Parts: sequence; structure tokens; C-alpha cells
Amino acid sequence: MSKTVLIGVTGCVAIYKTCEIIRGLQKGGVRAKVVMTESATHFINPTLFRSLTREPVAVGLFDDAPGDPIHHVSLAKEADLFLIAPCTANVMAKMAHGIADDLLTTTALATTAPIVIAPAMNVNMYENVATQQNMETLRSRGIEFVDAESGYLACGDEGKGRLADPAVIVKAVLDRLNVKRDLEGKRVLVTAGPTVEPIDAVRFISNPSSGKMGFAIAVAAHNRGADVTLVTGPVSLEDPAGIETVHVKTALEMFDAVESAFGESDIAIFTAAVSDYRPASPVERKLKKGADDAALETLELVENPDILATMASRKRPDQLVVGFAAETENVEANARKKLVGKKADLIVGNLVSHDNGFAIDENEAMLVDARASKELPRMTKAQLACAILDELSLALQ
Ligand code: C5P
Repeated sequence: MSKTVLIGVTGCVAIYKTCEIIRGLQKGGVRAKVVMTESATHFINPTLFRSLTREPVAVGLFDDAPGDPIHHVSLAKEADLFLIAPCTANVMAKMAHGIADDLLTTTALATTAPIVIAPAMNVNMYENVATQQNMETLRSRGIEFVDAESGYLACGDEGKGRLADPAVIVKAVLDRLNVKRDLEGKRVLVTAGPTVEPIDAVRFISNPSSGKMGFAIAVAAHNRGADVTLVTGPVSLEDPAGIETVHVKTALEMFDAVESAFGESDIAIFTAAVSDYRPASPVERKLKKGADDAALETLELVENPDILATMASRKRPDQLVVGFAAETENVEANARKKLVGKKADLIVGNLVSHDNGFAIDENEAMLVDARASKELPRMTKAQLACAILDELSLALQ
């Protein structure tokens, strides 16, 4: 039986592209059904979507749906996936806070189907901290984003906020509909974020790791049925729903947390950017210029344990250990060196540059194992997470 995608359409100029999305999904063998917000109907009359989908189009919470007094619940149950495209800042804000004041947002709250959001709005609205935080909240709940593109916007501004290409949205939806539950019963341990190594009461050594890659892997593994433990250094991301998240600061704390979960895990993925060194004797008070010049001028460092290498040296034959290699050059050679040196089963190598690696949502990576090196195209961290898990899932069979 064909799958049903419920398409939530909100009030935004990009709404005309929804017609192309409907066509693309239909070509992919999917039954498309539309629910619109009241403001969306000011841009396009529901009749157009009714004609394209050959299905009734739902708008009002209290509209008569023949023989169906609780329409939002039946719509929510009918959907194998709920796609909201285009999705305005307003609808994302409502969803982030569980507000359900129309048929679309009520259905979003009532559905247990996966949700995919393709945002579209003015660049300033997109970049507003409120919008960014709402997107982060929704992402942490497992909602997938087909992110907006940069370019010329309907309002005349240039910048990020343009609805993603309909073909990209259609592909993301079709991929997500085939979501596997291939990690059911497996325990996955993930490290993420930076570590912070205190020098004194107010100073520390750290790095700009955002934790996004590790969090994306944790969420993807959870979506595929795994029991996930996420050990993270300080990041500004919300704890993902349904995932045991352990917060640590230093490499030594991360080591302890990993050590207690490693024995039980089937797969351990080390994405954390662990500080290789820590100050030898952190001071509890604040070091003062003048009085403590000697201590401030020469910082004595000691090496932190290599968490990945230590765990890999203890691993059972049925466990898989994955490491990351963030490199500024020679990604493949360095990743291969790390694979052997750290006795990992797989190294994800990636080039770190101004537009790649830390703190952004996309990544260009290479998967290196004992047999081969696989170069992956530039993709979102969520997609890279899926590609890594695909590789591991194959190896576990
Ligand atoms: O040697 P390098 O730091 O480049 O190795 C990176 C990989 O090793 C990452 O997977 C990182 O999480 C892991 N690592 C670790 N403990 C350390 C240093 C790195 O687990 N002390």
C-alpha cells in the first residue's frame, strides 16, 4: 500500500513551490494530502491543492469533515510522515512550544509520524535568535529539517531564507519514509562537543566544537531503534528527547562516563573534540596578573587519556568503535593513520576549513575502514549521521 504524506502548507510566498513538491511525491509513489493554515489560503485557494491531490484539503479546526468529528486526530493518524513546506517562523515557534491553535499545529502535536520541516522566510526572520532556537528545539526532538537556501528573497532582500529546491525536499521525504529500524536492540554510545580544561577559577583550554555532529548521530541512532547514551561536553544544544544524555566538562570526566557505558555498548562513536592536554595543576582561585605572573606565563600541561584509543584497545570482537579525524590537509592519509593507530573499525575523516567542520550544519566527509575509503558528497550533519549508521549497520550483519 502506498504511504501517505500529509503536507502542511503555511502562509508564505514560496507556497507555489508546494505544487511541485506534491507532483514529485506523487511520482515517488506517495499519496499526498494537504492541510493549510488560514493565512496560506490568502495566497492559494485550497481548490488548487484539491485538484492536484484529488483529496479533500483541510483548513479549519471546526470545519465540517463529513463523518469525522475529530479531524486533527484522524489526519495525524493517517500520515506516515508530516511534511510542512513552506513552514513559516510563526508555525515553527508554535510547534517549539506545543501551541496548537489551528488545524495544522494541532495535527503536528497529535501526530506520532516523523515530521520534516522546510522553512521559508525573510533572512532577518530566519537569522533571528528566536527562530534559530526554535529550530534547534525542534531538531532535538527528532524533527528533520530541509534547510532554507541562500539567494534572492521575495521581499527583495538577499540571504538565507529561500525554500529549499522542491526536488531536495521530495528526496528528503522519500528517504525518511524508508527509515530503517535496523538498530533495534542495539546500544550506541556517542561522545560529543568539546571538553573544557580549567587553568584557574575563570580560565580554561577548550575548542569551538558545537556538538552538532554527535547530537545528529545520537538522534539518528535513536530514530533507528537504538538505545543511545550521549556523553557531551558543554554545548548550547538541548538534550535530545528519549536519549540518556550525560553532561561532562573535562576529558577525565568524559573518560569516566564513557568507561562506565562502553562495556554495554554495541557501537561507540567518538565525535567529541577532546582536549589533548590539560593544565597540570589547575588553581581553584583566579590567578592574578602581577602576583601570579610565573604561573600565567608558563602553563604546564599534561596529556589527557585518549578515550577512543583506550576503549578500542579494550573492545570485544562484537563491538564497533568509530572515531573522527578533523584535518586541515591530507584527510585520507591522516584518517587511515588514525584507523590503525587507534585500532578503530571506522574513521570519519573531514576537512576542517572556514566553511566546513565545526559549528555548521553541513559536512564533507570520507569514511575510512580497513577495506576501503569512501568519499561522501557534501551533506547535512543529519544525512552524514545516516550514512555513518548505514555503514555500521552493514558491518554488524
Ligand atoms: O588524535 P585526534 O584527536 O585527532 O583523534 C580524533 C578522534 O579521537 C576523535 O574521534 C576523538 O573523539 C577521539 N579522541 C578521544 N580522546 C582524546 C582525543 C581524541 O576520544 N583524548
